Amino acid sequence: MENPFKFGTIVEAEYFTDKIEEVAYIRHFVESANHLILISPRRFGKSSVVAKALSQSCRKSITVNLQQVTSVADLSAKLLREFFKVHPLERIRHLISHFRIIPTLTTNPITGLMDVSFQPGVDASILLEDVMELIEHAHTQDDRIIIVLDDFQEILDLDSHLDKKLRAIMQKQKHINYILLGSQESMMTDIFEKKKSPFYHFGEMMRLGKLPRGDFHQYLSERLKPRFPDTSGELADRILDYTGCHPYYSQQLAANIWNISVLQPEEEDALSAAVNHIVVSHGLDYERLWMNFKRTNKWILQSLATNRPLQTGEYPTSTLYSSLKRMQKEGYVIYSNRYEIEDPFFKEWILRGIQ
Ligand SMILES: Nc1ncnc2c1ncn2[C@@H]1O[C@H](COP(=O)(O)OP(=O)(O)O)[C@@H](O)[C@H]1O
Ligand SMILES: [Mg+2]
Repeated sequence: MENPFKFGTIVEAEYFTDKIEEVAYIRHFVESANHLILISPRRFGKSSVVAKALSQSCRKSITVNLQQVTSVADLSAKLLREFFKVHPLERIRHLISHFRIIPTLTTNPITGLMDVSFQPGVDASILLEDVMELIEHAHTQDDRIIIVLDDFQEILDLDSHLDKKLRAIMQKQKHINYILLGSQESMMTDIFEKKKSPFYHFGEMMRLGKLPRGDFHQYLSERLKPRFPDTSGELADRILDYTGCHPYYSQQLAANIWNISVLQPEEEDALSAAVNHIVVSHGLDYERLWMNFKRTNKWILQSLATNRPLQTGEYPTSTLYSSLKRMQKEGYVIYSNRYEIEDPFFKEWILRGIQ
């Protein structure tokens, strides 16, 4: 039997725990003429929940992940390539003829999809304007399209003026709705809540929380049952306690527990063995990370791992606060009602180093 847990990619159908309320809420947006901004820490299930809501809707959509985009020209090419997935070239050829810079289009013989490229060195703003205009013109008031820009917090890294350019283009559009997803909490809120930002109050802001414990427990214990007929419920509880209900790490731990039960059936405590396996196999990465942390950060991480209070007088409050903010921005630390280390296995590695 195949491993019933999945982590690292967008989860669909059988790997998805019902986030019924969130999916319904996003669906409502997908059907409306409004824009949506979805924020959560990394790996909380943003991409998955949006993919799920879109799959339940009959509206056309295009998704581009800004983390995989290398320049504004590349963004334009990727938008156009995604556009060709929902519109065959024959029907929009006349619209392409309006392009000021004509793209090179080739059919990829392996995927059968259209590859798009632009001549290097051309003005990327023109490309983006033309591609956006094409998408707008190919749609109408009654046939609106949704553009999903995932990992939107990368926008200013691509080009420091891209936010202004993009907003100026969007201003004129009537047939496109946007869903903008992002992690790195503070940067996303800067983009949407700072008065000076071009994206100030751009759309409805939604925050995604962790999965409800009850649903996730049921999901895990049902899937663990074939290998742990008597203890699957208890095991599910231990997994969720260990990960604090984090979607990604819970699936990662469950997948490893499943593997242990297949490969080492004599193992009595599959959870501890799985934790050990994950911590050891990531040891090198953790070590590299650790070496690059400043002393203050190391001290803060050790304090968080051991639940030691931060305000001991060792460091001034302002230093602690700015270090925490930075580590939160970089994704090592998350804040729900208190600061925590994001990765429970990294936390375990830190604890092992202290002892
Ligand atoms: N609804 C869900 N049910 C079960 N697992 C989920 C769910 N949403 C996310 N996950 C787990 O979390 C991982 C990260 O999800 P993803 O959608 O990529 O998060 P994000 O886009 O917020 O970084 C997935 O690979 C999966 O293991
Ligand atoms: Mg994502």
